[in-house]
Amino acid sequence: MAAKPKKTKDNYQTSTQAPHKPVTIEAFLAEQHQQDLLRFITCGSVDDGKSTLIGRLLWEAQQLFDDQLAALQNESKKYGTQGQEIDFALLVDGLAAEREQGITIDVAYRFFSTSRRKFIVADTPGHEQYTRNMVTGASTAEVAVLLVDARAGLLTQTKRHAFLTSMVGIRHVVLAINKMDLIDFNANAYERICQTFEEFAKPLGFASVTPIPLSALKGDNITQRLQNMLWYTGPTLMGYLETVDTFHTVNIGSAFVFPIQWVNRPDSNFRGFSGTVAQGTVSVGDTIRVTASGQTAQVDEIVTLDGPLQAAKAGQAITLTLDCEIDASRGDVMSSADSPLEMTDQFEATLVWLHTDAGLPGRNYDLKLATQWATASITQIKHRIDINTLAHEAATQLQLNDIALCTLATSKPIVFDRYTSCQTLGSFILVDRFTHATMGAGMISHSMRRAQNVHKQSLTITQADRERLNGHKGKVLWFTGLSGSGKSTLANALEIKLHAIGQRTYILDGDNIRQGLSKDLGFTDADRVENIRRIAEVAKLMVDAGMIVMTAFISPFRQERDMAKELIGPENFIEVYVDTSLEVCEQRDVKGLYKKARSGSIPNMTGINSPYEAPKKPDFAMNGTTIDQIDECVNKLLKLIL
Ligand code: ADX
Repeated sequence: MAAKPKKTKDNYQTSTQAPHKPVTIEAFLAEQHQQDLLRFITCGSVDDGKSTLIGRLLWEAQQLFDDQLAALQNESKKYGTQGQEIDFALLVDGLAAEREQGITIDVAYRFFSTSRRKFIVADTPGHEQYTRNMVTGASTAEVAVLLVDARAGLLTQTKRHAFLTSMVGIRHVVLAINKMDLIDFNANAYERICQTFEEFAKPLGFASVTPIPLSALKGDNITQRLQNMLWYTGPTLMGYLETVDTFHTVNIGSAFVFPIQWVNRPDSNFRGFSGTVAQGTVSVGDTIRVTASGQTAQVDEIVTLDGPLQAAKAGQAITLTLDCEIDASRGDVMSSADSPLEMTDQFEATLVWLHTDAGLPGRNYDLKLATQWATASITQIKHRIDINTLAHEAATQLQLNDIALCTLATSKPIVFDRYTSCQTLGSFILVDRFTHATMGAGMISHSMRRAQNVHKQSLTITQADRERLNGHKGKVLWFTGLSGSGKSTLANALEIKLHAIGQRTYILDGDNIRQGLSKDLGFTDADRVENIRRIAEVAKLMVDAGMIVMTAFISPFRQERDMAKELIGPENFIEVYVDTSLEVCEQRDVKGLYKKARSGSIPNMTGINSPYEAPKKPDFAMNGTTIDQIDECVNKLLKLIL
């Protein structure tokens, strides 16, 4: 053990100064069980000394713990308590549930304890430049310790962490200015950092910001105040953590919320709804409501692994049985009947982008909110937040670490709440549909009014009626390929044949549509995604009108072609890949675009300096090199359609 540094007087005593020794093991365990638990997160950039700080906290707490254990062992001997094992599981109570709820497993939760409090610290190792771990760790924390290297001052990353901290609803912040030993414990430098932070953090509305000058390495102001910074009169870090009152600042509702994880049906006599209570309490006899169907029922039993309960509260994993049969499945959310939850398919949210692939409005992602999954897309980026100035900036796409206020739309209504009312129903993640990577995390600010005020109007004449009149089914032939590959030529040749035999047809062609419906769009990835979204919607309407639609767009991204297929319905969708090589397209260069692109005067030319993702399994692939081949292809396509 290192030599104990010399102590100074402390206004905020830690348990080192005031060791409190329970008399027996039993008393100690009982005390541990009752102690309140503080969850906090440490946020830092790469060289701020976060690992040292956490190590130091654990080590110092361990010392306290060792002292207590030694005392206990003595007491045990004295009072004759035989070597009873300390139940450490008691101490890590709640940790497993935490992991289950975590969005990713990149956050390590460490436990330590003093005689005043138990602590869970969310440590976010590795990839410190990524915000994902921080968002995950912060979502359950009550206090954030923002680490600053005293030499470097306030970095953009610290500001980002402060912003995210306020965004996830943490109300108390410690500005831990570390490595004071490396700036000779200079009070002025410390003050300057405090002031800069204070100004920056004003609009973030924290309930308290507590700056503490530290040397995690040397131990200054961790649990002890040493000679080096006598000018500092505030708390030590441990003293602060042991005494900070977070009780009154948790702004979370208390109504019962129960997202159904699965329907438990081991035999025909038992049907239970299993999950973890997200908020509030439920008791036997309560009337609950299934949000989607509006059905209500009374709770018959609350079953757990440890036997039946009369009541259960937030955080408990339970199975509910009901007094009558109701329609509910995984993803449904139950509430108390007198506090019904809302549903929406359009809402505003603050999004944090967590991936190196850009976030593009119009692109489809999988959205996970509590146990619900839906297809979702960003409909608008209202503004991006400049993390240094907190100014609002315009943005057309989201880059890694961007924080932006966006509107989103889901494919079906989902149960939601504002993040400030219910974290479980107010936060979601966006997942890439192919790689399953977490792309972004969001916090809902409110539902959009139009989601509540727009309803589907049911009309009398249906697609089937129109198809009967037309004498054929509605369909989309989705041509994709490089510019100049022959998509329009092929679609045109096919339409001539179809028209001749009395089929109702229409061609949506890239060059034409871009002079009207899409004339506001260019050729960035984001604009192409939006272009294809519009075309897919228009094509869908035309299929509903019972027509055969041919679309001729480069449509370079697999994701958007798949989105179109899903929107229009796979049974109505034929993907035709016009597989003409870049060399051939470039030789043809009918519009002279390739030449311009090669000379650098066109920035995002597909195949040159913008990607083309060829279909993996098209319904039909052709090489459109010669006229003969086009005829042959048209005949094959006719067979496919008719
Ligand atoms: S898509 O990528 O959004 O599907 P779309 O098919 O509508 O593209 O438009 C492509 C047409 O726009 C091309 O056939 C070409 O005539 C013209 N064009 C102009 N600039 C570009 C560019 N940078 N990349 C590709 N096509 C371009």
